Amino acid sequence: MAKDIVVRIGGEGGEGVISTGDMLARSSARAGLEVLTSKTFPAEIKGGYAMYQFRVSAEKILSHGDTFNIFVAFNKEAYEVNKGQLRPGTVLVYDGPGGDIEPEPIEGVIQYQIPMTRISKVDLGSPISKNMVALGAVVELFSFPMESLKELVSNKFKRKGEDVVNVNIKALDSGAEYVRSNIKKTDVFYVQPQKSGQDSIILSGNEAIGLGALVAGCSFFSCYPITPATEIANWLAKYLPKANGVVVQAEDEIASLGHVIGASYAGAKAMTGTSGPGLDLMTELLGFASMAELPIVIADVQRGGPSTGLPTKSEQSDLFLAARGGHGDFPRIVLAAATIEDCFYLTIDAFNLAEKYQMPVIILSDGSLAFRTEKISRPDISKINIVNREIYSGNGGYQRYEVTDSGISPMSLPGQSGGRYIATGLEHSETAAPKYSDEYHTRMTEKRFKKIANIEDEYSASEWDGNGSADVGIISWGLTQCSVREAVKRCRVAGLSVSALYPKLVFPVPVKAIRRFASTVKKVLIPEVNYQGQFAELITAHAGINLIRYNIYGGESFTPDQIESKIKEVI
Ligand code: COA
Repeated sequence: MAKDIVVRIGGEGGEGVISTGDMLARSSARAGLEVLTSKTFPAEIKGGYAMYQFRVSAEKILSHGDTFNIFVAFNKEAYEVNKGQLRPGTVLVYDGPGGDIEPEPIEGVIQYQIPMTRISKVDLGSPISKNMVALGAVVELFSFPMESLKELVSNKFKRKGEDVVNVNIKALDSGAEYVRSNIKKTDVFYVQPQKSGQDSIILSGNEAIGLGALVAGCSFFSCYPITPATEIANWLAKYLPKANGVVVQAEDEIASLGHVIGASYAGAKAMTGTSGPGLDLMTELLGFASMAELPIVIADVQRGGPSTGLPTKSEQSDLFLAARGGHGDFPRIVLAAATIEDCFYLTIDAFNLAEKYQMPVIILSDGSLAFRTEKISRPDISKINIVNREIYSGNGGYQRYEVTDSGISPMSLPGQSGGRYIATGLEHSETAAPKYSDEYHTRMTEKRFKKIANIEDEYSASEWDGNGSADVGIISWGLTQCSVREAVKRCRVAGLSVSALYPKLVFPVPVKAIRRFASTVKKVLIPEVNYQGQFAELITAHAGINLIRYNIYGGESFTPDQIESKIKEVI
């Protein structure tokens, strides 16, 4: 097999592009291969261009890659969108005759014509099964494991009835049979199952956030559904009740955060999941949670643009909102996930930090990461550290907002003997009595900020890749880190001197780590998927460092190629 294969499938939303890609990716993972998937789809339920891409390799995969080796086109639009990326050595599998694609011959591009529409519509009388005909053809062409695919197809469609399962299995077989009888393979791409000793699981970013919450001890989740965050709720709705937890669909985002704050007040670890427009609505209550010193977690799966924007695309443009949104001065912590493993482990960290510092913690993911699936090592739950809030254990004289050395004061649960519990958004005294004099506001504001004055020393989540000085140093956050890792690897192979800093804590800005890193490199480059250079701006403001910004803002994440070219340009 070619060491590393990227397969892209394109068609119309509603044609089953996503299901097809998902099944191929899952069967590859079951065959012991490393898999990383990404997808983009339209905001409409039916119609528009949908795309699923997966990268399969015998080795660890760092990013979604630059472009594809194999392109499966279901319709003309998909072909038109992607034909510019067909290069010598790539393979085009397309619907025809009987479909609407008439590809031009492109030198060096291997083309396989499969009558997907004709077989499904005319031979099988099931137009919806076009994707399964394509799947069967792809399986046969590139040696994907057929048996596990049949199982996946049965599982996927069994809730739609036996007839649907049977016709789709038939479609799968027909696609494969067509290739055996009519196509002469001339490309070099084969998928070869690997023996893997690794105990692994496949998760999407959103599922990993759900699992992280479960493992962290979350027992209450409330949200208002919003693309691209809804899957977190769907996942938790399935699993949280099994752990005696509760999932609520609220009437809007404000109510959902209100529920979460109430649950935390009652002693539960609680979370909501949303996207930018929802986080906008939550900001007033975000300040309340910080003022009342209640641990809460918000997962913000960033989408593109302001307002309704680009609901199904992705951008790194909620950082200002997460770090700075809200009125008045109040502390909060913001983490940013780059990988599926991050989505899992940082969600646990988010709960731990919220419990420790008694404040809101926001974990930023984004649309591309939310929908990406990846094979990861099965987490060893026994090795995961879980932090619980400090509960008052004295015998009287309890003060909820006692000013301590760390700023953190023990909480008491409602009804607890000797405890007292008042959660208030008004400025208050140590006993939580309303007090808004100059003296109290100053003292309590300082107390609240003191809690995280040393967070960078207490929670070090910056990975430094490099040794000694370098010509260029890259600081990145969120999903961009994946493409940076791959680009850095390639640049080093090419003999370039590059190092990289990968912070997971993005606010408060990890000033010490950034200054140390910057002092070892000649130039600092910061690529971000947003127009304003949001992290660059925070770094400049907090760490006083000059940066070279590299911003894209089309709704897609960086490819390693883009970063590699920029590094070369900067050097
Ligand atoms: N036989 C029977 N059913 C099939 C099938 C087959 N061969 N192939 C696919 N399907 C079904 C799938 O099971 C799925 O139905 P389900 O949702 O009941 O499971 C449906 O057809 C769509 O197929 P799928 O592969 O999941 O997606 P697609 O590639 O056709 O793309 C979407 C459709 C997902 C892009 C579109 O439906 C969607 O959800 N768009 C996003 C909407 C959104 O979030 N907007 C933002 C609002 S702010």
